[in-house]
Amino acid sequence: MSVIRAVAQGCGHHLPSRVVENAEFAETLDTTDEWIRSRTGIERRHFAADGELTSDLAIKAAKAALANAGMDASELDAIVLATSTPDETFPSTATKVQHALGMGGGFAFDIQAVCAGFVFALANANALVLSGQAKCVMVIGAETFSRIMDWTDRGTCVLFGDGAGALILRAEDGTGTAQDRGILSTDLNSDGAHHDILYVDGGVSSTQSTGVLRMEGKEVFRHAVSKLAETGHTALSRAGLTGDDIDWLVPHQANLRIIQSTAKKIDLPMEKVILTVQDHGNTSAASIPLALSSGVASGQIKTGDLLLMEAIGGGLAWGAAALRW
Ligand code: UT7
Repeated sequence: MSVIRAVAQGCGHHLPSRVVENAEFAETLDTTDEWIRSRTGIERRHFAADGELTSDLAIKAAKAALANAGMDASELDAIVLATSTPDETFPSTATKVQHALGMGGGFAFDIQAVCAGFVFALANANALVLSGQAKCVMVIGAETFSRIMDWTDRGTCVLFGDGAGALILRAEDGTGTAQDRGILSTDLNSDGAHHDILYVDGGVSSTQSTGVLRMEGKEVFRHAVSKLAETGHTALSRAGLTGDDIDWLVPHQANLRIIQSTAKKIDLPMEKVILTVQDHGNTSAASIPLALSSGVASGQIKTGDLLLMEAIGGGLAWGAAALRW
């Protein structure tokens, strides 16, 4: 049976030039490199410079993805950009990227599902392709979480970083089997009952201010360990696949211990996991496309490999996608 698939054409990423090592936090906070490394796997992260915006990172990642795909921006029909740290309340950061790329047409919009944002954006881009509304879609995850940190809270400010990653999908004919290249399945979930364990304490209609991130880390950790394995299994089974079929797990990079426990639950050795948490920290919606682009650039991810991506974040919102590269 012939079907349409949203197939990866190329990807790219961009990280701000400023690198902050764990030791830098120990100068102002009651923390140590040892604590951060052993509890999270994080060794360093990148922070945007003053005046460097989420759109600046997104535009550079988008240009890198176009170069990697050998494509021109005029070939794009749409941009779906996942972020919780937009340049402005409106318009969308995606429209700034659209203009900067010189797309000349099409449409662009933002998606907000915090750390699960890239998976949600991917699922929406896939739906645009499958419904025929767009043939070629750029999916971007871009964040400047350094702008919403409470620098006195050692339980959160050491965890996050800034960056952006982009992936280009284009409609191609498939056979309808799990051997097809492209997005094979997605699974999206949210549960607003868990609002209080991860949120930003400000916003347009509540405080007319930006606010800072608040998290009950242990509680989020507990949900992450169970929900990530569950959504991964659901996405795989929707595509008629099992854990044995995975070539690479490309997980949200929040905490090495969460990634290890998810890999264990789906019986996957850590050699099959793309890891960037040590160098990027948690970059929210940017973390999966950053890991994906790093894995492709390093030659680990090859054409035909089956990738499972999964993420969880504020909402709570969580989900997974199976994609054959
Ligand atoms: O991307 C969105 C999803 N977010 C996540 O997935 C994050 C999930 N949560 C986590 O990754 C972990 O829960 C954390 C890394 C945030 C915390 O690790 P933990 O092992 O759960 O530690 P904890 O919160 O239970 O804290 C243990 C101790 C506490 O001290 P007491 O109460 O035992 O005296 C904390 O105050 O560690 C203390 N602590 C720190 N100590 C040194 C918390 N942060 C730090 C720190 N340095 N930076």
